[in-house]
Amino acid sequence: MSTLQINTVYTGDSCELMKNIKPESLSLSFWSPPYFLGKDYEKDASYESWQSLLKTVISLHYNVLKPGGFLVINIADILSFQDENMPRIMGLNPSNRKCAVTKEMILKVKEEHPEFNRRQIATVLKCSEQTIDRRLNGNNIRGGRYATGTHVKLVGGNLEQYAYEAGLFLYDKRIWKKDPAWANSKWTTNTLKAVSETEDLYIFWKPGEYLVNRDRLSSTEWKEWGHRQIWEIPSVRANNIHPAMFPIELARRVIRLFTDEGDTVLDPFLGSGTTAIAAIETKRNFIGIEMMKKYAELAIANIEKAKVIYQNNR
Ligand SMILES: C[S@@+](CC[C@H](N)C(=O)[O-])C[C@H]1O[C@@H](n2cnc3c(N)ncnc32)[C@H](O)[C@@H]1O
Repeated sequence: MSTLQINTVYTGDSCELMKNIKPESLSLSFWSPPYFLGKDYEKDASYESWQSLLKTVISLHYNVLKPGGFLVINIADILSFQDENMPRIMGLNPSNRKCAVTKEMILKVKEEHPEFNRRQIATVLKCSEQTIDRRLNGNNIRGGRYATGTHVKLVGGNLEQYAYEAGLFLYDKRIWKKDPAWANSKWTTNTLKAVSETEDLYIFWKPGEYLVNRDRLSSTEWKEWGHRQIWEIPSVRANNIHPAMFPIELARRVIRLFTDEGDTVLDPFLGSGTTAIAAIETKRNFIGIEMMKKYAELAIANIEKAKVIYQNNR
């Protein structure tokens, strides 16, 4: 395949297509990968396949970033996935019990009617056979303490290692303070864990000179977010067109902080096209890669609309 062109969306796998980007042509790559949460584009992902995807894509960056260029990854700080090797722990939550039948009540019926089977005991106590089983054996066949354990894993260490192995160095980290992600929460009723309210921006640098251009932002912007670690930006509420869009303001800030007009920005997980739209708006070039045809088409449609709005304003 020939070299990827700027201001173009490509449909395909970044692990392959990134090999066709002109070497040392990018000032910035900004993206948010699959988070391994069971969205439609990651249905078949395992922790191992997720690791391999991130490792491959990060390693391909060394060749395509300019010396002094930046790779900025937006990702939640922890992953959670089922892991057979984890202890099978479940918090006890008595208030969550829908059926008032206790183990003592079952034992009493058994004492009075030793000949009763599980179904008959359930009939007397007006509950399900499953409840009888659960109370007697502590056996929750729908999950709970006998379900495979959940592995909660910090993400930053993996990214830092993959980047380091690729010749890129951790330069900075920002925190995006977003809305609470209830929908993504694997836990609410039976744990004491918090719902995720922040995501990280890991900033990696390819050794080389880079410009510290104070004119990229106004003095108010430098004070309000340029120098600040925590960026408070509302999440994208509507996810009816794509399930995991980041807000355009996040892309705008990263692009304006790390690049100048005319530079080229890559997003190898383009989704609905947010990074490309922010690039158009800020007079940068983009290259977008998206694996799923329906999202690549959506990105192209969104980009066309953005071109009409912003390029007419130039
Ligand atoms: C978290 S979403 C990115 C959303 C995007 N930032 C936006 O605002 O719309 C990740 C995207 O990466 C795509 N994707 C997953 N694996 C990919 C791969 N190997 N190559 C290219 N795209 C991939 C998914 O289809 C999904 O649209």
